[in-house]
Amino acid sequence: MVISNRVARADPRTTEDAGASGGLAVAVREALSETAGLWFGWSGQLSETPALHGPEMQPGGYRIATVDLTPADHRGYYNGYANEALWPVLHSAPHLMHHDADRYTAYRSVNRQFVDRLLPLLHPDDMIWIHDYHLLPAAEELRRRGLRNPIGFFLHTPFPAADAFAALPEHRALVEGLVHADLIGFQTASDLRAFQDYIRWEAGGSVSMDGRMEAFGRHFRASVFPISIDPAAFALTAERNADSDYCLKLARGTGRGALLLGVDRLDYTKGLPHRMLAYERLLELQPDLRRRMAFVQIASQSRSKLPEYVAIRRELEEISGRINGRFSEPDWTPLRYINRGIPRETLAGVLRMARMAVVTPLHDGMNLVAKEYVAAQNPEDPGVLMLSRFAGAAQELDAALIVNPLDHDETARRMHQGLTMSLEERRERWEAMMAVLSANDVSRWWRSFVRALADAANPTAQPPTG
Ligand code: ADP
Ligand code: F6P
Repeated sequence: MVISNRVARADPRTTEDAGASGGLAVAVREALSETAGLWFGWSGQLSETPALHGPEMQPGGYRIATVDLTPADHRGYYNGYANEALWPVLHSAPHLMHHDADRYTAYRSVNRQFVDRLLPLLHPDDMIWIHDYHLLPAAEELRRRGLRNPIGFFLHTPFPAADAFAALPEHRALVEGLVHADLIGFQTASDLRAFQDYIRWEAGGSVSMDGRMEAFGRHFRASVFPISIDPAAFALTAERNADSDYCLKLARGTGRGALLLGVDRLDYTKGLPHRMLAYERLLELQPDLRRRMAFVQIASQSRSKLPEYVAIRRELEEISGRINGRFSEPDWTPLRYINRGIPRETLAGVLRMARMAVVTPLHDGMNLVAKEYVAAQNPEDPGVLMLSRFAGAAQELDAALIVNPLDHDETARRMHQGLTMSLEERRERWEAMMAVLSANDVSRWWRSFVRALADAANPTAQPPTG
């Protein structure tokens, strides 16, 4: 049984559904398709009298049950506290936090409402797996209602340095609620270390070598479970969609030169302006490359009413306009910025045709696009993955071209290196990354979490290894 704010249908009905859902939805959908579980969360609808929809069977073999939010709760809980307070803090940008006590009240209230709606749907032997920062207090709310089932929590975002997290006025109450889970999962070893620091230094708790922890009078465990994709299935989808209409149009539009590609939700954590500025630098430094390549940025709308997201959109329009103004020729456009999501199948084909994926977030829990790009490549002639050192994926995919996205000169030089890389080196790097992906796929992600949760919830069990 999974609970998360965002719930994804097995068959996204619109392009926006497909593009805007993000990494959580993509990975949980894959996991639930294998387990026939129930997925509970927000319906995506607003209503003054929130209704429960479902449970309803999905073609993928799992059930979904959803509730609406009132417009006031959507403002306070989702836009307000989750996305304007927690999101920037978790991404190490506490200076972007907008804090307001009423929003925190709405956040707690929605967590209570979700749990109240969920309880009648639960069975005594269900494992409960809570996802992401929208629902930090949900485990505590479940325990308050007497629930003794195993509860796991997985954080899809990074966990910041302990003192950055402490910028949230309610940081102690949030972690006190969270540790009612038996197991807390993180994307990377550095996220886990930061959380351990928080437990020791801010919460006054203790951390053992074997992953056991104690804080706020609770005993729990925390460990690392890097989220992933199904690389074999994605590779097949990419191969099948390599000649889609969309790909053909894209190839015509880039003058059949090398395609540099960015695919992201339009979010200020994704480093989109920095990436465009690095490309501008490349155009300045390497005039000989100008007509032989083109950059395409596909950025789906996300949280588009929030001021930071309006601002980043304007900034990208300004930068992309300037780059095209400076460098366009009558028959060549250096940069195309597409402000829409595309269906997953189409995306797989597009990733396959790109000579280089530019995945350069300023902070990112994992970044599934990086993994999708690797899986989508033609093994005979694979492209190059450029990856920010600040993406969780860089801790696994170290055969990528790793860059600091804030260093535009270095990023531009690396773009040049990637575009001129020999086939032999591209193959070597790709094989190393593909080996990592094949060993750590989405199935391993959820299976190892569920196994560790079963052990953590059983007080006589040994701690998980590895
Ligand atoms: P996040 O969870 O922050 O959005 P991830 O890279 O981990 O970032 O996951 C994003 C997921 O959404 C990936 O599966 C990706 O393919 C998909 N996605 C992101 N941007 C787009 C887009 N513009 N169009 C279509 N799909 C997208
Ligand atoms: O994977 C990270 C994540 O923040 C998810 O929690 C979230 O569902 C997704 O990205 C997209 O954001 P939103 O749900 O606000 O559209």
